Amino acid sequence: MKTQIQELRTQALADIESAGDAKAIDELNIRYLGRKGLVNDLMKGMAKVPADEKPLIGRLANELKNDLQDAFAKAVEKFGSGKEAGDVVDVTLPGRPRKVGGLHPLTTINLEICDIFTRLGFDIAQGPEVELDYYNFEALNFPKDHPARDMQDTFFVSDNVVLRTHTSPMQVRTMEKQKPPVRVIAPGKVYRCDSDITHTPMFAQVEGLVVDKGISFADLKGVLTTLVHQIFDDKTPLRFRPSFFPFTEPSAEVDIGCVMCKGSGCRVCSHTGWLEILGSGMVHPRVFEFVGYDTSEISGFAFGMGVERIAMLKYGIDDIRKYYENDVRFLNQF
Ligand code: PHE
Repeated sequence: MKTQIQELRTQALADIESAGDAKAIDELNIRYLGRKGLVNDLMKGMAKVPADEKPLIGRLANELKNDLQDAFAKAVEKFGSGKEAGDVVDVTLPGRPRKVGGLHPLTTINLEICDIFTRLGFDIAQGPEVELDYYNFEALNFPKDHPARDMQDTFFVSDNVVLRTHTSPMQVRTMEKQKPPVRVIAPGKVYRCDSDITHTPMFAQVEGLVVDKGISFADLKGVLTTLVHQIFDDKTPLRFRPSFFPFTEPSAEVDIGCVMCKGSGCRVCSHTGWLEILGSGMVHPRVFEFVGYDTSEISGFAFGMGVERIAMLKYGIDDIRKYYENDVRFLNQF
């Protein structure tokens, strides 16, 4: 047994020495150290070794194994491992694509809305989310203690400062800064103390304002019809329903034919066939007075829409809170 070990060692080292490339080293490695290799064969012979020789033979066999492992490691260093040489790459395996990020559905809708209005010649304006009472209410013709303020579920920062409850303050801020003609939209976040499957305390609106000589309700209808036909499809019916806002007169809420049931009535539209998507109206003369515009010369219209609501209808989402839970299983679908 002792001589057997010795011979195997000499043979193996000579073979390693004379091997010319990584492939040969790999093959030798399998021949000597593989599961069915010569060293393991030798180890099987241990069973027949007399008990008193076992410690010595065992030690020699282990030394052989270790020395060969070292010798192979050195040889691999010299030639590089055949496994890295590329000939064992399975080119039939599918590739591993990198995960790329995507836009949040609300961002997509927001960009789409901005794009539509930009093409209609509108500018884009942005303003503060922490807003003065003056811009959020007073200059929009909500006098102090007017019951219409009640509708707005306001978060107060102090007596004078609120989290804006709508993007309409941007009407006033824009008109303070520029003379007519005005053609602007103002996308942004707004806040109301409200939370259920169709309301979150923070949500997004897009405000629109057009002021010029001779602007009429027909212009309002034309712009909003174009918007709805571009976002949904050009067969979607619209309905202008009389409403009230302190800063517009007349005011109208705009409904579209239910996108789920196409108007026949379902749970989503409370069996009316219609869905409300925005508020609008002709700018109230009092608002023009606040910003120093001459009401005998100009007129205008304004509108404000909820972005989440439009995205819910477009994508068929029934719970607004899904937009804010950051669940990738939800977000991956867009
Ligand atoms: N600001 C109103 C709201 O949030 C919507 C609106 C905007 C209505 C502009 C008329 C004109 O409910």
